[in-house]
Amino acid sequence: MFIQTNSKLFAHLGLATVIGVLFSGCNTQKQLPEKSAAQKVAIEKDISIWPVLELSIKKDAELEYRVNKVLFSMTLEQKIAQMIQPEIRDISVEDMRKYGFGSYLNGGGSFPESNKKATPDDWIKLAEAMYQASIDDSLDGSNIPTMWGTDAVHGHNNVIGATLFPHNIGLGATNSPKLIEQIAAITAKEAIVTGIDWVFAPTVAVVRDDRWGRTYEGYSEDPEIVAKYSASIVKGLQGMAGDNFLGKDKVISTVKHFLGDGGTEGGDDQGDNILSEQALFDIHAQGYVEGLTAGSQTVMASFNSWHGEKNHGNKYLLTEILKDKMGFDGLVVGDWNGHGQIAGCTNESCPQSINAGLDIFMVPTNAWKPLYENTIAQVKSGIIPLTRVDDAVSRILRVKFRAGIFDKPSPAKRIYSGNSDLIGASSHREVARQAVRESLVLLKNNDQVLPLKLDQNILVTGDGAHNIGKQSGGWTITWQGTGNNNSDFPGASSIYDGIAKKLADANGSVQLSSDGTYQQKPDVAIVIFGEEPYAEGNGDIDNLEYQRGDKTDLALLKKLKAEGIKVVSVFISGRPLWVNAEINASDAFVAAWLPGTEGAGIADVLLAKENGAIDYDFKGKLSYSWPGDEHQSSVNRFDTEYHPLFGYGYGLNYAYKGYMSNTLGEGKRKKGEKLTALKIFERAAIKPWQLYLQSGDESQLISSSVESLGAISYKTMDRSVQEDARAIVFDGSEKAGIRFTANFPEDLHGFAENNAVLTFDVFVEKGPESPVYLAMGCDGECETSVELSEHLSLLPTNSWQKMSIDFSCFNTAEFDIGKLHTPFKLSTQGLFNIRFSNIILDPNFTEKSVVSCQ
Ligand code: BGC
Ligand code: BGC
Repeated sequence: MFIQTNSKLFAHLGLATVIGVLFSGCNTQKQLPEKSAAQKVAIEKDISIWPVLELSIKKDAELEYRVNKVLFSMTLEQKIAQMIQPEIRDISVEDMRKYGFGSYLNGGGSFPESNKKATPDDWIKLAEAMYQASIDDSLDGSNIPTMWGTDAVHGHNNVIGATLFPHNIGLGATNSPKLIEQIAAITAKEAIVTGIDWVFAPTVAVVRDDRWGRTYEGYSEDPEIVAKYSASIVKGLQGMAGDNFLGKDKVISTVKHFLGDGGTEGGDDQGDNILSEQALFDIHAQGYVEGLTAGSQTVMASFNSWHGEKNHGNKYLLTEILKDKMGFDGLVVGDWNGHGQIAGCTNESCPQSINAGLDIFMVPTNAWKPLYENTIAQVKSGIIPLTRVDDAVSRILRVKFRAGIFDKPSPAKRIYSGNSDLIGASSHREVARQAVRESLVLLKNNDQVLPLKLDQNILVTGDGAHNIGKQSGGWTITWQGTGNNNSDFPGASSIYDGIAKKLADANGSVQLSSDGTYQQKPDVAIVIFGEEPYAEGNGDIDNLEYQRGDKTDLALLKKLKAEGIKVVSVFISGRPLWVNAEINASDAFVAAWLPGTEGAGIADVLLAKENGAIDYDFKGKLSYSWPGDEHQSSVNRFDTEYHPLFGYGYGLNYAYKGYMSNTLGEGKRKKGEKLTALKIFERAAIKPWQLYLQSGDESQLISSSVESLGAISYKTMDRSVQEDARAIVFDGSEKAGIRFTANFPEDLHGFAENNAVLTFDVFVEKGPESPVYLAMGCDGECETSVELSEHLSLLPTNSWQKMSIDFSCFNTAEFDIGKLHTPFKLSTQGLFNIRFSNIILDPNFTEKSVVSCQ
């Protein structure tokens, strides 16, 4: 056995250790995920690429006079308060009274009084209290009304009972700008009922790599639909110049995230976009051209970088292009502590961002207070010019005047305030149901199995059949869309509900079971299955294979088919995925995306009328190319080499009588291809792995951000980005641990052959007092472990370190590497406090020091 390390700290190690472990220091703060930490490359800039926009909302001399009058009366403190946007979990009404923030937000899954079931009246109560505190000048001398911003991104999705529309990927498939405008108008109205002034939508990302966890937030992989829709949504949310612009039932809109969020390398969330400036404009800027021309008053800066430089600090993008050249005169808001990711910045201090052209810091967490104080000090010392602050505040005031924030009644007195009948109103749901119908894309319909006749005996099955949370996806009541039950959706319909209702009306027969069992043999099974909800970085994946290592849905389709039952698959997903095997096993296959609360729209199309005639035909067409293998994640319309399984614009209807053979290739990875790293944890457990706590004989699947079991407690932490690390405390009362386990074993022979290394980042808060074991587990209760406490106790505490262990240390004779279900299990019996992030089994580990167990 030998050990080498490249770290001075460990050069003195006595080498009498059981295993080889490599440590290397890494920065504690704001370190980018390695794969997106691109080199900053100087690019030649060409401002002539960018147009001067014909903005539909023109500057108005009288309004500018009012802006200036207010600006001149303000102190520096009052100005900076306008530029700070805290989050409702982190400020009180008294903070609002004392500081007079220009705006505030509720993040995804954040509600008045942290009550998921908050009613419209509860929302109004908070809006009214914040508003009154903002115009109370007794402490801060300011009486400028504040405004409340929220992510109403597929309807007013943080509010129980709201109408939730299909996510944008489904709306893209409808390709209907008029319908989209109606949807946006309804969203504005439901938001207005709860005292909201400002909505952080539309997302105009043009998604070029479907591995991105935000793929479903984009309308298309091509700018064509995105550009049209951007204008429609902005008009629906804000109204139009000269026609109810920011009228009583309208909200301020935000085109986001500026710029290039959908074009990052590898589809990495918050990653690096390395396109040329011309391509950045041609592909990613079209939504801004149309949305700003239509009058959107705000733009959100993006987390991503362009050629290694974070957009939140990019003056060329935010000021020279957007404001100076394109002529945007509204405000630029940051994204969720996005400023803290700029080199040299923290969440608490970032003059670079303001100087680059950011007008409002979105600053959740307790960072708002130091940020406010530091920004004031930076203006006083000249680091931030006062002219820049005055420009930012003028923009904020301009938007407030245009939106009537100064002139309209307080939130409680507005015309639709608290009118809960409008939340989930049936006329709103009708529009959502129409959108569901028109978003469905029919990919296969052999022997015209669809539409189903009402006198057939129908089985509805699959874990998505009666699951409104699953069909609604991320950004649904909670941020990730997880943890919801059907009872969280009053007034909504599951996909099964819609089918059952239609059949009941026609005296037809339907059976429901989530696992494909039935009492009476059905003629046909509608199997509803697909991705579990996710949002942002948690949804990033390595390749497009559906149900990697866990083919339960395929098994269900095959079982039904083998029993001689016709199979209609309804696939719920936030992106196109590689499902060749599932398509082969189905007679008909429908891409249903993430339809939202009106699952009944699916029955409208799948089932015929009583006389057997078509009720509603399929209209949806793919706005994303559909992959024919797991690696076709960035195959896009107009590529020179373009061989998707189904191309952009594909989508059958009932007139189509063709037959598709059931022989699509099901084989994985071509020979000779480089193995990609197997991620176990990156911001979240990566599928198929799931994170469990274990204490004594008990085990518990983690489902929320703070949990405990016996001797172990667990919570999520922010390291570089939101919730990308986890903190674990062992209290020493019994043997306890955490483990990542899959439901089905994985074959990791390839990793063994490639000399893979298990790497993870660790932050020791309090070194271990008893042995600490890192184990892997395989089928049949086999386990193999290495002891880590010596290495852990030598680590510098309270800083992030990388730990890397040769995979062969685990690949012992008694271990079946073809049947591994637990790639990481950390346990101890004594006191021990650590944090971890980024757990990867890496076959391409290139760091110098080679570590071995032999
Ligand atoms: C997202 C934005 C969102 C914001 C506020 C961010 O993480 O990127 O799209 O508006 O959070 O919730
Ligand atoms: C918060 C959400 C928020 C999201 C924005 C999370 O850490 O819990 O409320 O919307 O960050 O990215």
